[in-house]
Amino acid sequence: MTLKSRQMLVSSALPYANGSIHIGHLVEYIQTDIWVRFQKLRGHECYYVCADDAHGSPIMLSAEQAGITPEELISKARQEHEQDFMDFFIGFDNYHSTHTDENQFFANLIYTRLRDGGHITSRTIKQFYDPEKEMFLPDRFIRGECPFCHASDQYGDSCENCDRTYSPTDLIKPFSAISGATPVEKESEHFFFKLPDFENMLKDWTSSNLQSETANKLNEWFESGLQEWDISRDAPYFGFEIPDQPGKYFYVWLDAPIGYLASFKNLCDKTDLDFDAYTHPDSETEMYHFIGKDIMYFHTLFWPAMLHGAGFRKPTNVFIHGFLTVNGKKMSKSRGTFINARTYLNHLNPEYLRYYFAAKLSNKVEDIDMNLDDFALRVNSDLVGKVVNIASRCASFINKRFDGQLSSSLAKPELFNKIANAGIAELYESREYSKAMREIMLLADEANQYIDENKPWVLIKEEGRENEVQDVCSMALNLFRLLIIYLKPVLPVTAIKVEEFLNIDPLSWQDLNEPLLDHKIDKFKPLMTRVEKDHIDAMIEDSKENLEATTDDTNSNLSEHLLNNPVADEISIDDFFKVDLRVARIVKAEHVEGADKLLQLTLDIGGEQRNVFAGIKAAYDPSSLEGRLTVMVANLAPRKMRFGLSEGMVLAAGSGGSEIFILSPDEGAEPGMRIK
Ligand code: 2FM
Ligand code: ZN
Repeated sequence: MTLKSRQMLVSSALPYANGSIHIGHLVEYIQTDIWVRFQKLRGHECYYVCADDAHGSPIMLSAEQAGITPEELISKARQEHEQDFMDFFIGFDNYHSTHTDENQFFANLIYTRLRDGGHITSRTIKQFYDPEKEMFLPDRFIRGECPFCHASDQYGDSCENCDRTYSPTDLIKPFSAISGATPVEKESEHFFFKLPDFENMLKDWTSSNLQSETANKLNEWFESGLQEWDISRDAPYFGFEIPDQPGKYFYVWLDAPIGYLASFKNLCDKTDLDFDAYTHPDSETEMYHFIGKDIMYFHTLFWPAMLHGAGFRKPTNVFIHGFLTVNGKKMSKSRGTFINARTYLNHLNPEYLRYYFAAKLSNKVEDIDMNLDDFALRVNSDLVGKVVNIASRCASFINKRFDGQLSSSLAKPELFNKIANAGIAELYESREYSKAMREIMLLADEANQYIDENKPWVLIKEEGRENEVQDVCSMALNLFRLLIIYLKPVLPVTAIKVEEFLNIDPLSWQDLNEPLLDHKIDKFKPLMTRVEKDHIDAMIEDSKENLEATTDDTNSNLSEHLLNNPVADEISIDDFFKVDLRVARIVKAEHVEGADKLLQLTLDIGGEQRNVFAGIKAAYDPSSLEGRLTVMVANLAPRKMRFGLSEGMVLAAGSGGSEIFILSPDEGAEPGMRIK
């Protein structure tokens, strides 16, 4: 069977240059790499490109914090990322950066074509500005009190406490996360990409071949109306200056996807590949982007519209995956399940993870869970117990008794044909990897069953049945070879070891058609060892140590509070009712002379006043407390303190210092009400 060769350009999302690669990222790189390796094994021309996503305020500010230039930061990150990817056998054909000449060229080209086509507009907008740092603040760098639930220290765009989104100007008492200064509103001219111009084109594109979840999401977005997209940022900004607009820069998300083209161009310039053949609007080549569900909007609306508006081809498809959870929960630094690529590599074989992710991945936009016990179990029972076992059960007979020589015919050709025609290619093609792995393991079971039924270890002891041993083991090794072809996209290094052991050229999908007969194989060397639980435990321990070294708290997990502060011993309802909790109004709040941490509060619990010293000075400006309601323990024995008598306690949550949040009852509560 010869296949018409396809030409494909494939990408994974570009990782930000200010963070390390972790196992959550690896879901995508492994998913893409398996697909690309599969396409190449099938004889297609397939190029896999990626790059570091190097621009934006967070990177500029990280570099500043580290006392280095952004260029130094991104160059260090790129080295680290490339090494991590290489060690996980992610076989990029090219790895580049968005901070490159190629990317600037294409960003300018796409922008000017869009502008000249009338798809760019500008207007003056008001934004928060940090007067100390002298820069406009990205939403993530503005913090303040949530306008809905009043949780303090929330981001400028959304509240982690109540999950609601809002605009930074809605925040109560906003402050700059960079300098702490109170931001001021300032006007500036911004440039916008007119996404609504492309609505019809996008609707057409959506109806082609997107995943159903993606198409549904897009339809929701169409219904709520497409908005113009703000593509400019003011200096200081680490990025590309917009042509003819001094002091204005492209927003990082404008030039990030253009990085796919830039990386490919860089590859074309190093080889004799024709860039235009892959990118012109009528190209018959295919272009695919693998991404996570969080960046769907950029890739299914802005990106195809930008490409189309600038006279380039649109993606053939965008393949979207869900997030990774570990042991059923969001990855967490305190649980040790926020595992960096390097930490994993220090303890475990990368092919284990490649196989495990393959065994979990489908073509749906679903989250996948890595249960660490299941991980060990699957790898040990499938790869070591089923697949590798076939070779280790048969190789030594061939090596020792037949001088490495395989029989000249197949003992059971129908079994060979069945396994060779098992429809695995269709499953890879449609990214149904978990189904593919399940099928392959069923085929491995059949191969093992064949060995069990024919018992070469018994035959070898029977006079005159030597040839049968050779035939059975040759047959089994041929089945093993088929399974390795199937697993080669997932286990590229094991496949190389098998090719050495079988003494053959690199396996390709075509090799399913012909058995390996009358051929001398090499010595068998162990291919893969079992996953040991203590290695997993050590990896988790090491990941816990990462906690202090990292500043990335975007994946911190709420239940860390619980972990640091486990729930106390059980009490009876009677014990609980001994505590008299009352709604109290803070009628006065004052600084206490000579006290570092305390504020003196006068609380009204419905006609009766209490004097309470509370350790909340770092978190609250006293005047902001006056008039508000809170909750107090009203029957706590008065305590004599250095500054006076404290007659109760105010309820607050948090770890202390500025991380303390006093409780408030809902609207309608009145001083003196008892809390039960
Ligand atoms: O979300 C992210 O991690 C981005 N750095 C992905 C960019 S993908 C592409 F558009 F460049
Ligand atoms: Zn809120």
